Amino acid sequence: MSSVDSKLYQFAVQTAKEAVALDSQGKYRQAINKYQRAAEILMQFMKYNKNPQMRMLCQKNIEEYMERAKILKSQLGGARPRGSKPSVSSNESSNADKSETGVSSEEQELIEMISGTIVTESPNVKWNDIAGLENVKQAVREAIVLPIAKPELFTGARKPWSGILLFGPPGCGKTLLAKAAATECKATFFSASSADLLSKWLGESEKLISSLFKVARMKAPSLIFMDEIDSVATKRGEGSESGGERRVKTQLLSEIQGLKSTHDNLLLVLGATNRPWDIDNAMLSRFEKRVHVPLPDLKGRVGIFKIHTEGVNTALSDEDFVELAVRSEGYSGRDIANVCREVIMLPVRELDMSGLLEDSNKDVEVRDINLKDFKKTLKKVKPMTNTALLKQYNDWAKEFGEA
Ligand SMILES: Nc1ncnc2c1ncn2[C@@H]1O[C@H](COP(=O)(O)OP(=O)(O)OP(=O)(O)O)[C@@H](O)[C@H]1O
Ligand SMILES: [Mg+2]
Repeated sequence: MSSVDSKLYQFAVQTAKEAVALDSQGKYRQAINKYQRAAEILMQFMKYNKNPQMRMLCQKNIEEYMERAKILKSQLGGARPRGSKPSVSSNESSNADKSETGVSSEEQELIEMISGTIVTESPNVKWNDIAGLENVKQAVREAIVLPIAKPELFTGARKPWSGILLFGPPGCGKTLLAKAAATECKATFFSASSADLLSKWLGESEKLISSLFKVARMKAPSLIFMDEIDSVATKRGEGSESGGERRVKTQLLSEIQGLKSTHDNLLLVLGATNRPWDIDNAMLSRFEKRVHVPLPDLKGRVGIFKIHTEGVNTALSDEDFVELAVRSEGYSGRDIANVCREVIMLPVRELDMSGLLEDSNKDVEVRDINLKDFKKTLKKVKPMTNTALLKQYNDWAKEFGEA
């Protein structure tokens, strides 16, 4: 960020902080003005800042501020306004841990602080939902599932890695793998999208991060999953990051460092990124185990086509699936999932266009999807990753990854 950019942004953050403070003090009319002002400043900022991640954050914040202002306006004069203030959104706070009993008030406070930004329920993804990636699955099991399930095996010099990083092209299963690991190891699972953590800035992010680690420690064994870790740990030119960003990063670094020195409670941090080269060196060094999640190979692609056509009638033989896999070289899992979704809709679209769905009393028969549908759609839906980008992942893996 240029210095003008960063000043403008800090100004927006400052204004939003004031809004939240006024909001807490019950000075709603003034709070409304400040929220609107903060949103306006962010809009100005977005005119100059072209960074897509940053723009997304701003967009989200703007919506939050406008929404809060709207709620305050509609309830002015009435009772205490409902809903949460933007700094700590906790609309779903009661869901996160309502079955817990005997939670201390301090713990409850921390939990409330992290809920809304951090999801704690188990994701329910099975290893079988992920096709291929056999080596990667094994590595994730060794690094995450076993240390938590069988802590007695990991004593003395055989210590688990406290930080594990999954990296690779978009849409190849990093988030899925994290979820499957969490489902299997039955640890308390905390999932925080890094972009989300940042969007809750307003000076609260550091507290949020330290609360997250505190609660995770209380509920050990725990797995903290930080998706899109590059957005909190970006490598930047000296002095170009804002104070807020730097503080969040420092807090996160020190929490992860703390994990390395104390191993009495099991707490693992799993990061994921599709921009590993953007990660700050200090952060990278905390993630000792780095696992490359590459594009799916032929066998993997067969599996992905099968998973994403499950439950739908197909006229495809095993050989047809292999042919599809051959034709989809270079596609990510997400690309293939998109192809399947398109194809599955084709027969329904045909029926709709022929007007057969208009009569709700008539039973209609949906035809099976076939190889031709796939061939046609594969020509239309192109892979998102190109060879230059793939080379970048491979080069990075050679230099920083591990065998
Ligand atoms: N190996 C796989 N088996 C089955 N489905 C897959 C596989 N890889 C990707 N997919 C499909 O693609 C979608 C995206 O995968 P996922 O979210 O795990 O990607 P990612 O690597 O985290 O991507 P990003 O870097 O963009 O976050 C999944 O929800 C799933 O539908
Ligand atoms: Mg992901």
